[in-house]
Amino acid sequence: MDYQVRSQITLDYTGMISSPQNPRGFKSEELLGLQNVLDQAQATLEIRREAGELDFSKLLTSMKTQLPEIIDYANTVAPKYDNFVILGIGGSALGPLAVQQALNHYYYNELPSEKRGNRPRFYVMDNIDPVRFTELLHMLEPRKTLFNVISKSGNTSETMAQFLIVRDTLRRVCGESYAEHIVVSTDKEKGNLLPIALKEGYQCFVIPAGIGGRFSELTPVGLLAAAICGIDVRQLMEGALAMDQWICNSKGVLSNPAQLRAALAYLSWQKGKNISVFMPYADGLKTMADWYAQLWAESLGKRFDRQGRIVHSGQTPVKALGVTDQHSQVQLYVEGPDDKVITFVTVEKFNENQKIPVDAELPEDIQFLGGQTLEELLSAEQKATEYALTLAGRQHQKMILSSLDAYNVGQLLLLLEWETTYMGELLNINTFDQPGVEEGKNGTYALMGRKGYEARKYEIEEYGKTQYCLYEPVSTDEEKG
Ligand code: PA5
Repeated sequence: MDYQVRSQITLDYTGMISSPQNPRGFKSEELLGLQNVLDQAQATLEIRREAGELDFSKLLTSMKTQLPEIIDYANTVAPKYDNFVILGIGGSALGPLAVQQALNHYYYNELPSEKRGNRPRFYVMDNIDPVRFTELLHMLEPRKTLFNVISKSGNTSETMAQFLIVRDTLRRVCGESYAEHIVVSTDKEKGNLLPIALKEGYQCFVIPAGIGGRFSELTPVGLLAAAICGIDVRQLMEGALAMDQWICNSKGVLSNPAQLRAALAYLSWQKGKNISVFMPYADGLKTMADWYAQLWAESLGKRFDRQGRIVHSGQTPVKALGVTDQHSQVQLYVEGPDDKVITFVTVEKFNENQKIPVDAELPEDIQFLGGQTLEELLSAEQKATEYALTLAGRQHQKMILSSLDAYNVGQLLLLLEWETTYMGELLNINTFDQPGVEEGKNGTYALMGRKGYEARKYEIEEYGKTQYCLYEPVSTDEEKG
C-alpha cells in the first residue's frame, strides 16, 4: 500500500484502508469512487493554473529564475549583520519559521557566528505582544540588525505597527543610514508599505500577485530568509518543482499523491472525522505543523460553497509532536471521541544520531535500551503508537521523508499545498480567500480609528456594552467591621 514519490517521500496509507486488523477502514472502491470528481478537478485546476489563478504552482519556474538575485542579496547582507528579524504574521511568518527549523541547526541562534557560517541569528516577530516585542528590541543592537518587513497586502495592522516602531528606533539609533536596515517583501502595486519603501529607499522584493499568504513560502517571503540563513534554496526549489511536476502530470487517485491525500481526508471528513492531527516525529518539523495548520484551517474553513450555499466546511487542524505528545494527547486519540484522522510525518534517516550506552550493571528493565539508538527508539515509539491506534480502530496515515533536507522539504511544502487545493475542490469551496480573517482585520481598523470604518466601530462598541463578567467581590472596610 506504499506510494512512492521519486523515492524521497512515501505515503503509507495502510491505516486508512480496510483490512482484517482495520475493518473500519475505507474500501479501495470508496477511493476510486472519487476518481471522476478528481479528474474534473484536475482539468479545472489545470485551466486555472494556466489562467494564473494557481500561482503557487505556476510561478515556481519564474521564482527559480529569480533565485540568483535573492541569493546575491542574501550573501551580501548576511555577513554585515548579527541578527535578521522578520516582521510579519500568518502566511508571512509561518513558512519562514517552518523552513528554518526544519533545515538549520536546531539551536542555530545559540551557535557561535562561525558555526552559523557567519550568518545572522534568525528571529520572527509574528505577534504584537508588547512584552515580547519590547524584550526583543532591548536584546538586539539595531546597528547590527536587518529587519525584513513582510506583508503581501502591505496593510496588516500588526505588521505595520511593528514596522513603525522599528523604523522609529532605527532612525534614532542609525541616523541617515537607517533605511539600509530594512528590506521589504510586498505586493508590487497594492498596499501602503510599498510607497513608503520606495520613498525611503529600502531594498524591496516583490511577492507575486496571485499568491496568497499561506501559499507564499516559495516566493521572497520564505526564500529570502532561508538564503540569508544559509539554507540551500536551490535544492528547496528543485524539490518543490519535482513534486509540482509529479502532481500536475500524474492521473488517478492511486498515482497522484495530492489527490490521494485529499481523497482520504475527504472520505474521513464525510465519516465525521472533523479533526486532522498533523504529528511529525522530528523536532525539526514542529513548526511545519504550525504552517500546515494555517494552510488547512484558513483555506478550507468556509461558510459558503461556490454556489453560495451555507456549508461551514473544514476540518480542525491539530498540531502534535511525536514522541512528546504521546505523553500528552495520544490518550485522547486512542480512547477519546472517534473524530480524528492522524497524519504521522517521519524521517527515515536523521542527520544526527546517538547510541544509548550499554551498562550490564543496570536493572534489566532499563538494560534493553543499551546498544540501540535514539533514532531506533523514536521509530519504535511511532510504530507502537500507530499500532495502538489501529487496535482502537482509529484512522491514521504516514508521510515518510527519506531525510530532512532542503529537497525533501520543498517536496513536502508543495505536496501539502496541492493536497489542500484538491481538498478545496472536493469540498466545492474557494480555497484561496479568507473572508473570516478580513472581518477581524476590518474590526481592528475600526477600533483603532482608521478613517472609513466609523460605522463598524460604533457596532462593535454597542456590542461591547453588554457584558457578562464574574469576579470575586471585594468587601469594604465597613463590611469587614
Ligand atoms: O494566508 C493569508 O493570506 C494570511 O494569513 C496572511 O498571510 C496574513 O493575514 C498576513 O497578511 P499580509 O501578508 O498581507 O500582511
